[in-house]
Parts: sequence; C-alpha cells; structure tokens
Amino acid sequence: MKISVIGCGYLGAVHAACMAKLGHEVVGIDVDPHKVAELSAARAPFFEPGLEELLSEVQATGRLTFTTDMAAAAGSEVHFICVGTPQKKGEKAADLSYVDAATNALAPYVGAGELVVGKSTVPVGTAERLAELIQEHQPEAHLAWNPEFLREGHAVKDTLTPDRFVYGVPGAAEDHPAVELLDEVYATPLSSGTPRLVADYATAELVKSAANSFLATKISFINAMSEVCDAAGADVTLLADAIGMDDRIGRKFLNAGIGFGGGCLPKDIRSFMARAGELGADQALTFLREVDDINMRRRTRMVELTREICNGTLLGQRITVLGAAFKPNSDDVRDSPALSIAAQLQLQGAVVTVTDPQSLSNAARRFPELNYEPDLTAALLNADAVLLLTEWQQYLELDPHTVISQVRSPRILDGRNVLEPSKWRAAGWTYRGMGRP
Ligand code: UDX
Repeated sequence: MKISVIGCGYLGAVHAACMAKLGHEVVGIDVDPHKVAELSAARAPFFEPGLEELLSEVQATGRLTFTTDMAAAAGSEVHFICVGTPQKKGEKAADLSYVDAATNALAPYVGAGELVVGKSTVPVGTAERLAELIQEHQPEAHLAWNPEFLREGHAVKDTLTPDRFVYGVPGAAEDHPAVELLDEVYATPLSSGTPRLVADYATAELVKSAANSFLATKISFINAMSEVCDAAGADVTLLADAIGMDDRIGRKFLNAGIGFGGGCLPKDIRSFMARAGELGADQALTFLREVDDINMRRRTRMVELTREICNGTLLGQRITVLGAAFKPNSDDVRDSPALSIAAQLQLQGAVVTVTDPQSLSNAARRFPELNYEPDLTAALLNADAVLLLTEWQQYLELDPHTVISQVRSPRILDGRNVLEPSKWRAAGWTYRGMGRP
C-alpha cells in the first residue's frame, strides 16, 4: 500500500520505518528539514535501539523516503498523523496545535476513499473534530483513531509486534471502510494473531489515556508502598515480588524508586484530568492527582536521602549522578526524574556531575546550569556520594570494589532499587535504596 506518515519524531519515524518493513511504500513528512535530512541518510535523530539498522534496511529497498513537502502525501491510501501532543506551558491540558496544524496541512491532499489515521495521544473528542475538518475538504475521505502503545527503547519491536490494535471508527462499525484498510496495513502482525478491537472514536481515544493512567497508578502505588516500607523498616522490592506473583496483580511496573518521567505518562495523566474536568467528570480522576503527587514526592525524597547520607548537608558535597535520560535505552530527557533531582541538589549547594551514555547533549539543552561528564570513570572521581538514577546496564554492572578507589566517600544511593545491597555493603559502601532497609 502507499502510506504517508505525518510527523517524524519518536512515534512517526519508527512507524514509517516499520510500515516500510511490513512491505508498504512509505513517505515520512516532517516540517523540520534537519530531521528529514538525518532520516533520509538512515540516521535516527534520536537514540532508539534497532532503528538505524531498520532505516538502512528499508531505505535500501526504495520503499521509504522522507520529505518536508506535504504534497508528497497526495495519492497515499492511508495517512498516519504521528505528531506530538506535549503539555501546554503552565497548564495541565495537552497542546493540540501540532495535531491541528498537521491535519490542516494534510487535508487538501487527501483524496476520495483515502483514510487519515490519528495515532497521537489526544484528549477524547479530538477525533470527531478532525474527521469534520478532513471531510470539509473531502467528504469521501475517512478518519480512524488508532492509538499507539509503543515504549521508547522498545519502539521497533512494539510497533512490529504490538499487544493489540485498537481501531476507532464512527459507531464502532466493523464494516466501516477504515477497518478493511487498516487490516490491510497491519496484515502481517494480524496474521500472526495480534488481536484487534474495533471501537467508537471516544473509546479508542480513551483506551490510550486509561492505559497510561493505569501504568502510572501502578508505579505510584508501589512508590506509596515504598514510603510505608521506609517508615516500617520493610523491603519494597520483596513486597513487589510477593504481590506480583498474584497474576491478577503482575510484577511488571512495580519497581519502586524515583518514579516515572518521560514525554508520555506525566503529561498524559495531567491532560486526562484536564479533559475529564471539561467533561464534568473531574471527580472520577481525582486519584490521578494523588498519583502525580506521589510521583513528584519521590524526587524530593531522593534529595532528602542524599542530604541524610552526606551527614545532613549538601553544601559543597560532590555528587555524581548516573543517568540523565528518563529511562535506560533512550536519550529522551523530557520530565526526567534524574535531571530534576540533579538540578534540585545543585540548587541546594551540592557540586553535581551528571553522566549518561546517550542523553548528555539533550540534557545540556534543558539544564545548561548542570555539569556533564560523558566519561563514567571521570564522573565518579572524588565523589562524596554516587546516585544511580537511570538504570543503564553499564551502571548495573559496576564493580563496587573497583569504583571504591575512584570516589572520595563510598556512599551509593540506588534510585531504582537495582543494585544488590549486600554486595555493595560487603565492599565497604554505605548503600541506600528507596523503601529498602
Ligand atoms: C509509556 C507506556 O509504557 C507506553 O505504552 C506508552 O505508549 C507511552 O508511555 P514510555 O514513556 O516509553 O512508555 O516508558 P515506560 O517504559 O512506560 O516508563 C515510563 C517511566 O516509568 C520511566 O521513567 C520509568 O523509569 C518509570 N517506571 C517504569 C518506574 O518507575 N517503575 C516501573 O516499574 C516501570
């Protein structure tokens, strides 16, 4: 099939490459000429494992091109809208200006019988509005809402082999022409058994908000338990293992620590609350305010723990922060708990050095006031305390016996509860986790 993908960020670039991998002829369109140039040269403008290899592989087939010219969308049977919906500055609501601009720019090129598919995470009610906009230009065109559930760091795999497909179409009609077109787009994963659900627009939009709210709630739940464990001298990691063995609960997303960040969970729960408020259903989601508060408290808690371990004062303490990205295998620093903690420590008088294998240039753009050191050994040198805040594999593999000779004071704070406390203590370190005795 001929497919266009509008927006080539984390979502769109991966989607375009994966659709070409499935055998379609794809054009990726973005307003940013730099992004288009990079992608055209098979270079990913951000770090995503496996993406560059996939770009090279599919570009060699001639099935994938990138351009800034929206006119290139003309003639595609399916047009995916994959632009971002960040949080509005100073507000909880999502900023829909990119989605609106992309749809407005695309609309004149959409032909009769063609399908526009929204993948961006949007407040419920957006799909209906965009469908009207498209149909003002071309009454014979269709719009479907097909939320994306990919995780950064696993984006290629999640796109090629998703857990499920959700198609939002008017009236949840199985015989809507959009269903057949989307089935054709996703024929390969569907044939290997990926389930698909056909829903109305509002349900399809809400599926994404609900899924991310549930995941955020699960993390904040275990972080709340972590606070209680700290107070009671219990171990939240064992608690998570034990409750996670109940398959109604499940062990995934029960890792307590400094909490969630990134470009999705924090802003999605906030915009969901804002939208529920507009709909008069704000009471239904007041618990999400608590989820957000628990999450933000984790960052303050880490700062307090650092002060405690440094004998009550941060002034002049040399703190090494391992990790700047919001999670490992990503260079994304949007709402990164690690950087927000590093910035708070520095504000309170600590001398902070941040290291990360992938995200330092992004980090320096967001927090220019922090000191960055790409070399791990140099970053550790003479530290009074080491904070592990993003669980990159190389930090998990650090040998406490080696690192002890590099630092000034052997104090380690494990913000992700991923190190083995007994191993670090046996090597002479003061170890503190979050919610671990
Ligand atoms: C998330 C959803 O998982 C994905 O389905 C959706 O499409 C987009 O939002 P992503 O933001 O890429 O994906 O990252 P995710 O793996 O969900 O992690 C989010 C944050 O939660 C990270 O900061 C991570 O460190 C944190 N986290 C995750 C925890 O603190 N504890 C956990 O147990 C799991």
